[in-house]
Amino acid sequence: MENNIPVHVAICMDGNGRWATRQGLKRSEGHKAGSKTLEKLAIHVFKTGVKYLSVYAFSTDNFKRTKEEVDYLMNLFIIMFKTKLKSLDKENIKVVFSGRKDPLRKDVLAAMDSIVERTKNNTRGILNICLNYGGQEEIVDASKKIIEDVNAGIINKNDLNKEIFYKYLYQDLPPIDFFIRTSGEYRVSNFMLYQMSYSEFYFTDTLFPDFNESEFDKALEEFKLRDRRFGKN
Ligand code: IPE
Ligand code: IPE
Ligand code: MG
Repeated sequence: MENNIPVHVAICMDGNGRWATRQGLKRSEGHKAGSKTLEKLAIHVFKTGVKYLSVYAFSTDNFKRTKEEVDYLMNLFIIMFKTKLKSLDKENIKVVFSGRKDPLRKDVLAAMDSIVERTKNNTRGILNICLNYGGQEEIVDASKKIIEDVNAGIINKNDLNKEIFYKYLYQDLPPIDFFIRTSGEYRVSNFMLYQMSYSEFYFTDTLFPDFNESEFDKALEEFKLRDRRFGKN
């Protein structure tokens, strides 16, 4: 890890709804503001030297929200992937997704495919967007793929270990060094459970639409002071 900069940062982008409600706006306005924050923030994060950024955009459990809110978010994702996030392509950032396809709409899946395709040869960093994502679901889905490969003789049950397990997750990314959650909630909410085994945690009361570049820099300064021991003395 160069200059104590985390290799892989994960952000649970929480608090969009409260940001809007506090200003007397509809929750959807908070999601729109959050998407603008992400566009700027992602570019900044890679500028600091971070190589992998995972963001929690929509959990499998978020389908429990009203149809109006889910529809708004899905339409916002389409706009983001088709137009807004083009700036990431210019910055040589590759975009990948983690999560289940079902029950995402076809037009959402097509927009996801378009940004993946457009950025696939980019090399400066990877933005992993977790959409219709669940951490327990990811472990279950990985286990199913492993069973298939064991049954097909592609891997031997006794060769399976925690490093190989990573290769069966939605994306083969390094472990998360730094996990950030905005909006004053102190929980993981089924985010990247397997990858967080030795993550440093950072919680801030700032609501995601207000989590700007300087808020990230403040978090990064705190990360640099952490004493990571990985079980050693
Ligand atoms: C995070 O903000 C975005 C998504 C979950 C899609 P919320 O929508 O959870 O905002 P709060 O937590 O209700 O304020
Ligand atoms: C987690 O936030 C999911 C995303 C940020 C996309 P939630 O707002 O859904 O989590 P809970 O319900 O507060 O645990
Ligand atoms: Mg929330």
